[in-house]
Amino acid sequence: MIQDKEFHFSFREIDDITELPHALQELLVQSKNAVSNAYAPYSGFKVGASVLLENGTIVSGGNQENASYPVGLCAERVTLSAASALHSNNAVVALAVTACGINSHIDKPVAPCGICRQTILEYEERFNRNIEIILQGESGKIYWIFSVKDLLPLYFGNNDLTNTNHS
Ligand code: THU
Repeated sequence: MIQDKEFHFSFREIDDITELPHALQELLVQSKNAVSNAYAPYSGFKVGASVLLENGTIVSGGNQENASYPVGLCAERVTLSAASALHSNNAVVALAVTACGINSHIDKPVAPCGICRQTILEYEERFNRNIEIILQGESGKIYWIFSVKDLLPLYFGNNDLTNTNHS
């Protein structure tokens, strides 16, 4: 028997930052400030990310590139790793991401890459709570997404390892 299945996901599109709750407005502003911490001499594509932790702390970072290109890290992974390294056991509540081109103006939201989606998922599962994701370019619409699982249909998570035999 063949069954057709569907994946459906809802998110909010917002015209103006003032329409976000205050904590998320602040997070988005911090991610924009974090663009200045990006090290992106090879792509010229600077990304800033900020995470809000359960205790109210905000940790921010920018993408970090390398002359050996694959060694580079996206802003989301830099920031989540820094937050976890500095404030372990503090759940991640929300993540804001923005981008700024050195030679171009980015007027659309930039969504996390596949590896970053998987990384964000790890923090959702680790703390057993959804992470709200706020995306905006230098200007334009803001996307408000309620869980990274919406961006990763049929994701691979820690539950998939429960039947692994470690002996
Ligand atoms: N990049 C990020 O930091 N986050 C994303 O979500 C997409 C891509 C970085 C990686 C690389 O330094 C540059 O943007 C161009 O791909």
